[in-house]
Amino acid sequence: MQVQSQSTEPMGELHLAIQRAWDTHKSNDDGTVADYIPELSKANPNDFGIAIATAGGKVYAVGDAEVPFTIQSVSKAFAFCLALEIAGPQKVMSRVGVEPSGDPFNAILFDPETNRPFNPMVNAGAIAIAGLLCEYLGKDAFDFLLNRFSIAAGRKLTVDEEVYRSECETGHRNRAIAHLLLANGALTGSPDKALDLYFKQCSISVTAVDLARMGATFANMGQNPMEKSIAFELTAVRRTLSVMFTCGMYDYAGHWAYDVGIPAKSGVGGGIVGVINRQIGIGTYAPRLDKKGNSVRGIAAFEMLAEEFGLHAFDCTNVGSTFIASLIR
Ligand code: DON
Repeated sequence: MQVQSQSTEPMGELHLAIQRAWDTHKSNDDGTVADYIPELSKANPNDFGIAIATAGGKVYAVGDAEVPFTIQSVSKAFAFCLALEIAGPQKVMSRVGVEPSGDPFNAILFDPETNRPFNPMVNAGAIAIAGLLCEYLGKDAFDFLLNRFSIAAGRKLTVDEEVYRSECETGHRNRAIAHLLLANGALTGSPDKALDLYFKQCSISVTAVDLARMGATFANMGQNPMEKSIAFELTAVRRTLSVMFTCGMYDYAGHWAYDVGIPAKSGVGGGIVGVINRQIGIGTYAPRLDKKGNSVRGIAAFEMLAEEFGLHAFDCTNVGSTFIASLIR
């Protein structure tokens, strides 16, 4: 399905920009669709959608921006934000660090000083976060998480049951990680329950428009701009965006911060969410991945938009604190 626009206005600058990014990169066939979870290999490799949602509630979309795919690791950012709210930052820090690991997302490596996972954006850290949510919310953990994700997206999200089943059947490496977390004290409850929550959260079905809206909810300090309902707690959003900035793109995170310079999170389903604080959320979907598990066309589209609009955190057009600006005049 090709969505041209969800805005009532004629094609404005933002809409034209995502159309240009789509046109420029739609023929890039580099990369391959993930197949280590068999259900993921069924994605159409040519799908490509880009969406922008503003903190004022507008949405612009091009290409396959309403094609469903599974959220996968993009869920890690939103789950981390919820854990900060539910368990508090100190408890969260006792289980998971906030240092970039420089290792692949499924690495079986822990911080040698603390024995904790390096950060919540790699599998080990995300499974520890799932364990914490199970510890605090018990059997309601998944419904709680799905409800908050749905508020952020502005519609009721559901699980792709086939992907969920496929994840459960093939997630042996994640099982090994969960048991090591238990041995290290980064998980205190049942590894099976933590894994089930992790597999299920990764299997939530979304579109590029959903990711843009979820990103816009982060940009809008945790409140969905359209529904005006609160999905995430304010201070947790700031902490989450920081970790997305430094760790959101796995072992490409440094490169991403250097080139694109915005908080973002990718998933092996082909999605990327990016956040421009207080302004917009960007969602892309293109399932061909590079060797590090990031969407090839998604990265290219983000690079182009960042360049065109000066989105980089350290772009010369970004003035930093307006509060300080008022004091140094
Ligand atoms: O842990 C896994 O294998 C997946 N369910 C999630 C992985 C993922 O998206 C990592 N991504 N780039």
